Amino acid sequence: MEFTASSAKLLNIKADSLILATGPQLQNSALELDQSLDGAISSLIKAGDFTGKTGETLVLHIPGASGKRIILLGTEGATTAQKQINTINAGAKALLKTASKKAIWIGENLSEDDEWQASMVARSMQTASYQYAPQPRGNKKSKPQTLKALIYWTPSKAGAIAAKKGLAYGSAVGNGMNTARQLGNLPANICTPNYLASQAKALAKGQAKVTTSVLTEADMKKLKMGSLLSVSAGSDQPAKLIVIKYQGTKATTKPVVLVGKAVTFDTGGISLKPSGAMDEMKYDMCGGASVFGVINALIETQMPVNVIGIVPATENMPNGHATKPGDVVTSMSGQTIEILNTDAEGRLILCDALTYAERFKPAAVIDIATLTGAVIGALGKVSAGLLSNDDELAEQLLSSGTRSGDRAWRLPLWEEYDQLLKSNFADMANIGGAQAGTITAACFLARFTKKYKWAHLDVAGTAWINGAQKGATGRPVPLLMDYIYSQVS
Ligand code: BES
Ligand code: MN
Ligand code: ZN
Repeated sequence: MEFTASSAKLLNIKADSLILATGPQLQNSALELDQSLDGAISSLIKAGDFTGKTGETLVLHIPGASGKRIILLGTEGATTAQKQINTINAGAKALLKTASKKAIWIGENLSEDDEWQASMVARSMQTASYQYAPQPRGNKKSKPQTLKALIYWTPSKAGAIAAKKGLAYGSAVGNGMNTARQLGNLPANICTPNYLASQAKALAKGQAKVTTSVLTEADMKKLKMGSLLSVSAGSDQPAKLIVIKYQGTKATTKPVVLVGKAVTFDTGGISLKPSGAMDEMKYDMCGGASVFGVINALIETQMPVNVIGIVPATENMPNGHATKPGDVVTSMSGQTIEILNTDAEGRLILCDALTYAERFKPAAVIDIATLTGAVIGALGKVSAGLLSNDDELAEQLLSSGTRSGDRAWRLPLWEEYDQLLKSNFADMANIGGAQAGTITAACFLARFTKKYKWAHLDVAGTAWINGAQKGATGRPVPLLMDYIYSQVS
């Protein structure tokens, strides 16, 4: 889809649909449009057909001009960033339901800030356009999309300049989310560690700023990644440690390192999971997929930042070589771990990846993982869990979450929780018992991240939705991109 910004006289721009965000009181260009339509909009409001409540949509066909339509989009009550994003999402969906080929989005009445608003419009359009690309393809047909171009209109010239930036950024974020969604939605018999490695290499192809390297199990053995390898031991699919470097600025600028959990299927291992909804454990690689999404968005924007993505990829399976409860393994850091539950495997692969991250002398390390069912108990499917050893980094990520509508909420890493990881037979156990599961999982990771500023995002609740709309969400690509962008803007 092509996105442009304009501040030309609204009624002179050619398009076959207009998206008009408005409350029940018509203002600015809404008044002008209403006049040009002999009061058609105000009479719909008067009749009660359109109330202007946030997220409400109504398609109005303009008599005489065939194929022309106005999509009214209610804004009343859209007082927070989150509600504005929900409103914009509703507008994007309503627009894509029509046969419009070229649309004008009137950037008024929502946010004062054209860059932000335009970025959300472009992001919403991209994510609303996403269709799962089935593999294997079968007979599932994709619906053709008619919309080819969208003009973001704003009354001021300065606004249009800001909007142009926002459109490019938001479009890239939306495409990055779609990258993460597609990888997440793929079944685990297609999306194996090896498949992810090949996708990472494909990302780098022809990209001057990107290099991908893939460590094999033999490489990991040399690095003494005994913890990561204890998870892949029970699988016939070899583990891969995928490293994607995006260098958008001078080499001396310390990178932000993103570490994404990619368990391409989590059976639980010998501590086997119950079978109900076990198919959803194909999504246990969504942390890793979000790293791919971010790299994709950085490539699209050519952002002047240095980011390194590390994606430990493995299955968690229970074959005859599998790790058993009670086994003790040595991590790359030298610390030993008593594995009391093989289903707490995410932390076992992340800890070695986090030790590996030290070599990049990071400005900050953020890991992203579908780590605990407990985070769903605490925060549901609304917010990610955030835990960090650095208050400033935590604050930055929280505000990135709010601004991008991809929210996170902080939980503590107090010593009392860390104590729950004590083991009689090793430096630590891999589980902390029945309580505070999200925190004890993060306390485990914290033992491997003492050398740098670190934050952990537990996205077990937010990375996918279940039910009729089952599918990966592309979160937390928006939060991560906002954080990375805020380092250079
Ligand atoms: N991948 C799961 C976490 C998960 C569970 C995500 C359900 C989404 C929905 C993780 O590997 C896991 O199994 N965690 C265990 C940890 C426990 C054994 C300490 C959990 O949360 O039950
Ligand atoms: Mn598990
Ligand atoms: Zn898992």
